Amino acid sequence: MRRRTFLRSLLAVCGTLSFASFAYPLLRFLAPPGDTDKEKKVTLAKKDIPVGTSRVVLFDQKPVIVINHQEKGFIALSKVCTHLGCLVEFNPATDILLCPCHAGTYDLEGNVLSGPPPRPLAKIPFKVEGEQLVIG
Ligand code: FES
Repeated sequence: MRRRTFLRSLLAVCGTLSFASFAYPLLRFLAPPGDTDKEKKVTLAKKDIPVGTSRVVLFDQKPVIVINHQEKGFIALSKVCTHLGCLVEFNPATDILLCPCHAGTYDLEGNVLSGPPPRPLAKIPFKVEGEQLVIG
């Protein structure tokens, strides 16, 4: 292979890679992957959350705590504290969600009971479909 041919080939390869490195992100931006509601929903079996227990699931890439309360039934709240974003923990003995970072507390409706959180926990919509719990 002659030197000139080799350099042209090398230049063509580099040009193609450079073009691809700009074109790919642009195409991904213009045509984002399918993001339907169905893909966002999370389905749980009701039997997997016995009364008095809770379970954490990821919904929309964020942690959600699903509580099966003896009197109030199922409750789904964001697990992310509204103060600085720590993850709250559910205490079934006191029916309180406690943030371990600065001792913020929330009730089962997500309302702030004490501490620095400025807003209630986000309520996550869900519905019961037979033996399933559909989050989202
Ligand atoms: S991060 Fe939860 S109280 Fe500060």
